[in-house]
Amino acid sequence: MLIQRSCARALSTHHRPLAPISSSSSSSLLLRSAHSLSPSLSSFRFLSFPFSSSPSPSPSPSPSHKRSKLPLAALLEIGGVKIAKDDVVRESDPANNVPDSIFSKIGLQLHRRDNHPIGILKNTIYDYFDTNFPAKFAKFDDLCPIVSVKQNFDDVLVPADHVSRSYNDTYYVDAQTVLRCHTSAHQAELLRKGHSHFLVTGDVYRRDSIDSTHYPVFHQMEGFRVFSPDEWAGSGMDGTSYAAMDLKKSLEGLAKHLFGAVDMRWVDTYFPFTNPSFELEIYFQEKWMEVLGCGVTEQEILKRNGRMDHVAWAFGLGLERLAMVLFDIPDIRLFWSNDQRFTSQFSEGKLGVKFKSFSKYPPCYKDMSFWISDAFTENNLCEVVRGIAGDLVEEVKLIDNFTNKKGMTSHCYRIAYRSMERSLTDEEINQLQWSVREAVQNKLNVILR
Ligand code: DAH
Repeated sequence: MLIQRSCARALSTHHRPLAPISSSSSSSLLLRSAHSLSPSLSSFRFLSFPFSSSPSPSPSPSPSHKRSKLPLAALLEIGGVKIAKDDVVRESDPANNVPDSIFSKIGLQLHRRDNHPIGILKNTIYDYFDTNFPAKFAKFDDLCPIVSVKQNFDDVLVPADHVSRSYNDTYYVDAQTVLRCHTSAHQAELLRKGHSHFLVTGDVYRRDSIDSTHYPVFHQMEGFRVFSPDEWAGSGMDGTSYAAMDLKKSLEGLAKHLFGAVDMRWVDTYFPFTNPSFELEIYFQEKWMEVLGCGVTEQEILKRNGRMDHVAWAFGLGLERLAMVLFDIPDIRLFWSNDQRFTSQFSEGKLGVKFKSFSKYPPCYKDMSFWISDAFTENNLCEVVRGIAGDLVEEVKLIDNFTNKKGMTSHCYRIAYRSMERSLTDEEINQLQWSVREAVQNKLNVILR
């Protein structure tokens, strides 16, 4: 059954001040606005769409925090592009905010591993398009994630003052270059190259808070289909309505292919690159869950890229979000695990095999209080913590927040440390916590209490 909802939410998403759903950073509040209206979705907020919120001018310079104990490959090659560490991590450039820990993820390409849940899901989506649109969709999965600000934002009409452009939200290699924060960054170049049906899968990068559903690198798939006037001429519809109808039909089919016969509903929303814009939700495991964002492509994008008089639809979906549900994977860090007890559970072509947890290791909590400065953001804190503790940090949560009579604001954060793979010793955690405290004090301009 398909339930159609009104556009009230989309308007409010775009224009009203956004209510927090958790004690999170300004960026994540903005990114996750839609979910504040739907508490049942909050556990999956990591894949809300940053572009479904209104512009908000708050770029704040990010500190540099580059420490990592990981051995780093000296030179990567992605889609024929050679990338050295110095091309991405540049301590001397004040516009650069890419830490070593992020560089170490570039090139791992989980989406290209056929036995990995992310690769299995990608291939299942490919199967759907291959079956229903034989030989139509060109597939790209090794486009370089280092793109220009123009590709990532301007080409898809993201306003100049949109929050997603801030240093707090996006990894900048230099003032004109970013690690793509969405696969929509490739729409314009592929259109210009003459493609009219394409799927782009890739790793995307976002500065964010830390919990079991957020990781600064995750994977998206973008779909795009162009129609020429003769395709809708006989339909009795205008081009936009025709594309919207085809989009909904195609994506309902995809959702059914992945989840079976579930209830679905369309929710009107806002994206800068589509109009109208929608989110598809399915009723799964007793909750409404957002599956993807999509819409009819803004004419301006088609016009600029040689497709005047055409219409198109586009969609973007987050692979981790769907894989966590389909494979019962409880923590997003697991996708990056090389532990055989994780990797051996998945095999090519087997979507939806339920993950059997092997970790019962207890978490260890440490609290840290400090007086913040005006420049403090939770994303910066999380990056410092991740820079020291890596994947041993499970969650960073604001548990207390007050302002004293002198106007000084104190935050208390609770850090949960837990390994997916082994027990952590008290000594190890204490040492980590001391290093974290030191780094937070030195790099974030806060005063520990
Ligand atoms: N790029 C969006 C995001 O990451 C997702 C998206 C939404 C892609 C709508 C699309 C689209 O192509 O039409 O938040």
